Amino acid sequence: MSREGPQSLESVVLSRRTIHLFKKEQVSDELIEWAADIACWAPNHFLTEPWKYYLLSNRLKDQIIDLNYRENLSAKGERYAEVKKNRWQNIPGWLVITSKRAKTEKEERENYAACCCAAQNLMLLLWTRGVGVKWTTGNIIESIDFANIIGFTVNEEKPIGMFWYGYPETIGKQVRQPINNVLLRV
Ligand SMILES: Cc1cc2nc3c(=O)[nH]c(=O)nc-3n(C[C@H](O)[C@H](O)[C@H](O)COP(=O)(O)O)c2cc1C
Repeated sequence: MSREGPQSLESVVLSRRTIHLFKKEQVSDELIEWAADIACWAPNHFLTEPWKYYLLSNRLKDQIIDLNYRENLSAKGERYAEVKKNRWQNIPGWLVITSKRAKTEKEERENYAACCCAAQNLMLLLWTRGVGVKWTTGNIIESIDFANIIGFTVNEEKPIGMFWYGYPETIGKQVRQPINNVLLRV
């Protein structure tokens, strides 16, 4: 991974990793806007362009952390809630992506699929600029309180996840199974 310079698509796809630990340094909004704009060139059936990107201010980030704290406090106790709160407070960049709801289950599924394509585009584009992302789908993203804080209507949009981003402190390793396990000649 590098912050500039041409890289092959192959090397970007292979080297991108989910990032769990970020440096304090903030990523500029301009860089996120650049990546989000290009990410919209994802395939989308019937040209629904079903994605919305919500770039969170510090005020909203704090409200989400507080919401999560309250949920954890009642479900898992104070110690767990405090540890999570601490961890979340150190995440430098917060983006939420939602998918447009639809009249039919099929169209809604296709909208979700298109948003996932856009999300991967976004993550790969940011990776080429040295920015790592963690796509996370914890329980709170399904709650009404979450939608109210972000400012979307649950009847119209469905969150596909929170995307935490920043410059990686560490980059983990991952493996994939051999291609012949998943590519079947039939
Ligand atoms: C829809 C979706 C939801 C995810 N949610 C989480 C999550 O809640 N917590 C987490 O640690 N990783 C989450 N991940 C990241 C995966 O754990 C990660 O992609 C996987 O471990 C493979 O690692 P890699 O992305 O570095 O290849 C999610 C990924 C996807 C696609």
